[in-house]
Amino acid sequence: LENGMARAPPMGWMSWGYYMCAARCEAGDDKCLDEKLILSVADAFYEEGYQEAGYEYIIIDDCWSEKKRDENGRLVADKRRFPRGMKFIADYIHSKGLKFGMYTNIADITCMQYPGSLKHMEIDAKTFAEWGVDYLKVDGCFVSEDILNKAYIQLGQHLNDTGRPMVYSCSWPYYIEFIHRKTPNYSLISKYCNLWRNYHDVQTSWLSVAAIARFYGRRYRELAPHHGPGHWNDPDMLIFGTGVLTRSQSRVQLALMAMLSAPILLSCNMKMITPYEKEILQNLDLIAIAQDPLGIMAEPHEFESTSGTATIWLKPHLPMKGDQYLSYTFAVINMENEEATGMIQLDQFPLNATDGYTVMNVFTGEYFLNVSLSDAIEVKVPGQDVAMLTLYPL
Ligand code: GLA
Ligand code: GLA
Repeated sequence: LENGMARAPPMGWMSWGYYMCAARCEAGDDKCLDEKLILSVADAFYEEGYQEAGYEYIIIDDCWSEKKRDENGRLVADKRRFPRGMKFIADYIHSKGLKFGMYTNIADITCMQYPGSLKHMEIDAKTFAEWGVDYLKVDGCFVSEDILNKAYIQLGQHLNDTGRPMVYSCSWPYYIEFIHRKTPNYSLISKYCNLWRNYHDVQTSWLSVAAIARFYGRRYRELAPHHGPGHWNDPDMLIFGTGVLTRSQSRVQLALMAMLSAPILLSCNMKMITPYEKEILQNLDLIAIAQDPLGIMAEPHEFESTSGTATIWLKPHLPMKGDQYLSYTFAVINMENEEATGMIQLDQFPLNATDGYTVMNVFTGEYFLNVSLSDAIEVKVPGQDVAMLTLYPL
């Protein structure tokens, strides 16, 4: 969607992955979707280096509202959990220089059966704009294919009519493919949405991360042409800070998102992020690759290994010379349990810096100098790990 928004893939935090519909909140419950939680994320972004690294959007997912609209048909924030309303939260987030996101669904109810926007598109768009929303995630539960194809366009028009710039995140293709079993029209979707979910919800498990990686590997040819500034495929949230990933698995999930030029949305209690997870989330070399202005989705290639199996993902990024890419990142991702070993033969890839490269290992910060196009780089990747190497032209 060419509305000036999401020129780089959005980075931030979204409530669903970890908190889901935590609406009941008994006293002392630390897993509760409420004002305190949202403000705590804003504080963590502001005070702990996330904001400087580029993390920006704080997005409240489903289960934030009262079960009924007010007498004027407006959505109302749950009065117990959000006693000062959403405008207060937006103002707080904005006061820290951060951005605020919310959620609705394109049916009469949301996926968790809170009020949805189908018959209230205009008033809901206005309400979100008045509250100061900068990003709207719009889900697609419970409606026909026909409604999906019409309503996402209509709601987008109403958002545009408010005059408030908002990132427009759609779940449109997911529902077309996995609920209605049809082929999503990505040209159409990318014209009307800034990002869109393609595949199932991420679960807090390594198997789910692996399934998502396989999906984007399989579907590269279909998805990559529609991916770029203003219009992104969305593989869903990271599961950092939930205690389920080992160090190397966390490297894999983050590397995959960076290589795909995907959104980087956390979903956890920010206090649960480990020092190592925080270190890699704030690795500015990695973030620069993830947020590269060209926004190219990495292409998967076979890794010709002498032992084990892995996939080479290759992503061109700035700098360019004329229309040639000069700089590339290779991520050799090993999803199996056994170590994978082999060579990256540089002349088998479309590289063209004739003076050769400096190579940086993104996760260790090590450099090796003067690699020429006729060289091969030896790579050894332990099970469930990644080697991420950036080639800078000399
Ligand atoms: C769907 C979406 C999730 C989340 C929930 C909320 O499952 O895919 O990301 O928004 O609905 O109910
Ligand atoms: C291991 C080390 C970390 C860091 C990474 C780099 O996890 O424990 O300190 O060096 O490898 O890949």
